[in-house]
Amino acid sequence: MSVDSVFRTRSLGVAAVGLPDQYADGKAAKVWQLYIGDTRKRTEEYKTWIMGLLKRHNVHSILDVACGTGVDSIMLVEEGFKMVSVDASDKMLKYALKERWDRRKEPAFDQWVIEEANWLTLKDDVQKPGSGFDAVICLGNSFAHLPDFKGDQSDQKLALHNIASMVKPGGILIIDHRNYDYILKTGNAPQGKNIYYQSDLKQDIATSVLWVNNKPHMITLDYTLELLEEGHTEVQTSKFRLSYYPHRVENFKELLKDAFAGKCEQECYGDFKAYTPGQAHTPCYFIHVLKRTA
Ligand SMILES: C[S@@+](CC[C@H](N)C(=O)[O-])C[C@H]1O[C@@H](n2cnc3c(N)ncnc32)[C@H](O)[C@@H]1O
Repeated sequence: MSVDSVFRTRSLGVAAVGLPDQYADGKAAKVWQLYIGDTRKRTEEYKTWIMGLLKRHNVHSILDVACGTGVDSIMLVEEGFKMVSVDASDKMLKYALKERWDRRKEPAFDQWVIEEANWLTLKDDVQKPGSGFDAVICLGNSFAHLPDFKGDQSDQKLALHNIASMVKPGGILIIDHRNYDYILKTGNAPQGKNIYYQSDLKQDIATSVLWVNNKPHMITLDYTLELLEEGHTEVQTSKFRLSYYPHRVENFKELLKDAFAGKCEQECYGDFKAYTPGQAHTPCYFIHVLKRTA
């Protein structure tokens, strides 16, 4: 069963409270690595695309603002970029830190900077080099983790403003989200190959949508995965829950433009291919690329 093949939609009667660190109990972080599947297989999917983009923009230094367990950062360190990788969850960072430690004899890994940081306080948490990084990335549907408790998207605006402030003039931001327009319309994730999660594990994802004042406010995914854990001879069932804010593509484009005070060039891709609204292929993910023009 593919990751997105089983989506069930139900309404939540009560507000599911999204915690600042949804990975805090360590359970989701542990399973996340397995959910990603073969990390090299995952990054292979978009490595050519992202490397082409980074080369075109003459990128050397990159800030990964949602490095999680390190899947994208590791690929970029291996490719020779000067990486600073941050995340709000120490439970997720633990896996990135272990990789850096295990490979510390490789100069590129020895120089890899990993820190704890929150998008809401990013300017205090991350030391900006000069006028900023050549590129900032926020991938794997990470930004949708930030809820909108105040109901006015002010936290999301602040976070995007902070993230954009890390991009130097002429630099780029690459940020993505699931195709929530489609999920909200149909109750299902788009069918087809999921570019991010390649795991062969048997899995089920139940989707719940929380509506507030007739607006979709939060999407909760309850993941059930069947795992054969180390030291076990029988398959275990593992469950974890993650909640997301369902960003609609056109609204998200506006938030991004505002984060750069309009001083940007903006492109939108669907599953890493040029995206035109209304096109035949329904993407699973939207990827936005913004170039700071001043
Ligand atoms: C779905 S994981 C993706 C991680 C990695 N980019 C990947 O694709 O595997 C989302 C990450 O965003 C991080 N995150 C969520 N809210 C955050 C915030 N406010 N500040 C910094 N990181 C945050 C989480 O801790 C988590 O590691």
